[in-house]
Amino acid sequence: MTDFQETTHEELILGLLVDGGTDYVSGETLSGKLGLSRTAVWKVVNALRRQGYRIEAVPSRGYRLLEAPDRLTALEVLPLLETHDLGRTLHAFETVDSTNSVAFRLAVEGAEHGELVVAEHQTHGRGRRGRSWASPGHLNLHCSFILRPELPPQRAPELTLLSAVAVAESLRAEGVPADIKWPNDLLVAGRKVAGILTELSAEADRIHFVVLGIGCNLNAGREDFPDELAATATSVLLVTGRRVVRAAFAASLCKRLEDWLDVHGAQGFRPVRERWRALSTTLGQEVLVTSERREVRGLAVDVDEDGALRIRTAGGAEERVLAGDVEQVRPRLAPPPPPRAW
Ligand code: BTN
Repeated sequence: MTDFQETTHEELILGLLVDGGTDYVSGETLSGKLGLSRTAVWKVVNALRRQGYRIEAVPSRGYRLLEAPDRLTALEVLPLLETHDLGRTLHAFETVDSTNSVAFRLAVEGAEHGELVVAEHQTHGRGRRGRSWASPGHLNLHCSFILRPELPPQRAPELTLLSAVAVAESLRAEGVPADIKWPNDLLVAGRKVAGILTELSAEADRIHFVVLGIGCNLNAGREDFPDELAATATSVLLVTGRRVVRAAFAASLCKRLEDWLDVHGAQGFRPVRERWRALSTTLGQEVLVTSERREVRGLAVDVDEDGALRIRTAGGAEERVLAGDVEQVRPRLAPPPPPRAW
């Protein structure tokens, strides 16, 4: 397992160049802000260049960032963050078994709210209900947030729906018309573009921590998916024809997730539920929900105050489901009208 930890000077200089945008940042400004000599600044810039950054240097004007490599280390992500907590401590790996497993271990060891684990490649990426998650290297986003919400465990499903809202909004900002299938699958025209695996450590009345694992198919092409997913998976690249700057996507996801967590903390689940409803395709559909214990078929009527899906079955009764897989099924044919009396 390789943990990339970059030096502070590189992060700081990169941050200042990112803030400078298309303007030059003078060597004097950089050396003043970092308390380094101009020669030391030059050495840091060269170290960044060796890592794939294209940095222009023009005498008497300064430095300008032209291009950053498509990586997901602290060096690329931190300068783009606009959050107070989420992603500020970033554990970036080349290869892990599963970012959720790593995040879970870190949380047990005391990692704080907002810490983020990302990996280029997962050898055992996990999906919901014991499935695996295809994780080809250097193309997509595989990440897990450690959250420490002040919530009783029975309210944890609210975070599942909240995270789906944040991911849907991040995808839409990339031009991908992603919809949510209850509880938190992200689909485009019926194909899966992202998935979320929420894991919990709690006691009866208190959540210790939540690990929110998010997998987004960003730059994967057709050939990058295993054969069995060819018909059911898609990516941002396949939908829009454009590659995603993954560090920027990760930063945008951190911001949206944090904003929704703040709304949830201040106003409760209601506004999250409203937004989820607007982004979901499940409501109003005839569905079959399969959970570990049972199957329920009927019309998806609404999501409840606690995130449960309410289904009206054929007999007219309403059932609540808190976890499971939703399959959209063809509506039953309406019963024939009664014979008319002449
Ligand atoms: C699903 O739709 O079944 C959930 C998929 C969740 C995949 C992500 S990738 C990052 C994190 N690490 C994992 O092992 N799983 C989640």
